[in-house]
Amino acid sequence: MFSPVLLLLASLTSLALTLDSDHSNADQHKKFCTWKCLKFTLQWPGSFCVGLNNSTKCKIPTSIQNWTIHGLWPSHVQDCCECWPIFHSDLKELDPELSQFWPSLLKAQSSFNFWKDEWIKHGSCAGCVEGMNSPLRYFQICLKLRKKFDIDRALNDDAGIKPSCNQSYQYKEIKHALAPITGDDPDAQIQCITDSKGREILFQVKIPLSRNLTFGCHDGRQDAESESTQHWNTYSAHPCQLKSSIFYFPINYNNPHQPCG
Ligand SMILES: *[C@@H]1O[C@H](CO)[C@@H](O)[C@H](O)[C@H]1NC(C)=O
Ligand SMILES: *[C@@H]1O[C@H](CO)[C@@H](O)[C@H](O)[C@H]1NC(C)=O
Ligand SMILES: *[C@@H]1O[C@H](CO)[C@@H](O)[C@H](O)[C@H]1NC(C)=O
Ligand SMILES: *[C@@H]1O[C@H](CO)[C@@H](O)[C@H](O)[C@H]1NC(C)=O
Ligand SMILES: *[C@@H]1O[C@H](CO)[C@@H](O)[C@H](O)[C@H]1NC(C)=O
Repeated sequence: MFSPVLLLLASLTSLALTLDSDHSNADQHKKFCTWKCLKFTLQWPGSFCVGLNNSTKCKIPTSIQNWTIHGLWPSHVQDCCECWPIFHSDLKELDPELSQFWPSLLKAQSSFNFWKDEWIKHGSCAGCVEGMNSPLRYFQICLKLRKKFDIDRALNDDAGIKPSCNQSYQYKEIKHALAPITGDDPDAQIQCITDSKGREILFQVKIPLSRNLTFGCHDGRQDAESESTQHWNTYSAHPCQLKSSIFYFPINYNNPHQPCG
C-alpha cells in the first residue's frame, strides 16, 4: 500500500530531477553539440614517427602496412566530455579492425588509450548525432569511413604513387591521385611535415564531412591546428607546399624515426 502523499512527493522529486538534468543537458548540448562539420583524418604510419622528437617513443607493428586513422573530429570543439566513460569491453567486437586501422604508434600508449583519448576529446561530441551516439557506434562509423576513403588504393593501385626513399612526387600528382577522396574542396587538406633534412614528406589527409557524413562541409572557420602541436611532435603538420617535391617514404619497421636515413 502506498500513501498518496508519498506518491505525490516521489513524483515531485522526480519532476525536479528531470527539470534539473534538462537544464544541465541544455548547457552541455550547447557546448558540445552545436558543431556543424567534422574532419576525418587519416595518417601515413611511415611518416608519423618522423615527426616525433625521439625515436624510442615510436613503434610500428609489422602488421601495419596501410594508412591508419588519426581521428574523426567535430570542428571547433575540443576536450568534449569526460562524462561519457568508455571501456575497452565497449569496443571488443571492433578490436581486431581497430588495431589494424587505428593503432597507437607510440610505445608508451596502448591502442585502447589512444581510442579512449580520441573519444574523450572528440568522440563524445560526435555522439550528439544519431548513429554515432555511443563509443561502439562512433568507432564503427570511423572504420566505415576508413574503408570508404581508401588512400592506399587511390595512391598505390590507381595512380602508381608508391612509397619510395629515392623518388619524390610533385604536389599536383598527389593532389590529382587523391581527387576521388578530397575532390577540389578547399577544406580538404593534404598535409606534410618537413624532416630534419628539409624534405617535404606526405603525412596526413583531412577530409571534411557534414553532420550526416556526406563529403564536404563549410562553416566558414579556420581549423585550429591543435592536433599537430601535441607535445611529442617536433615537426608540425602543414599543408604540403604547392610547388615542392613531396616524398612518400616507405614504412621502416626497424628505424621508423628515420625511414630513409
Ligand atoms: C628518448 O626517450 C627515452 C625514454 O623516453 C630516453 O630514455 C632516451 O634517452 C631518449 N633519447 C634521446 C636521444 O633523447
Ligand atoms: C593495403 O593496401 C594495399 C594497396 O592498396 C591493398 O592491396 C591491401 O589490400 C591493403 N591491406 C589492407 C589490410 O587493407
Ligand atoms: C633506392 O635506390 C637504391 C639504388 O640507388 C636501391 O637499391 C633501393 O632499393 C631504392 N630504394 C627504394 C625504396 O626505392
Ligand atoms: C547532408 O547534409 C548536407 C549539409 O547539411 C545537406 O546538404 C545534404 O543534403 C545532406 N544529405 C543527406 C543525404 O541527407
Ligand atoms: C621532446 O619532447 C619532450 C616531451 O615529450 C620535450 O620535453 C622535449 O623538449 C622535446 N625535445 C625536442 C628537441 O623537441
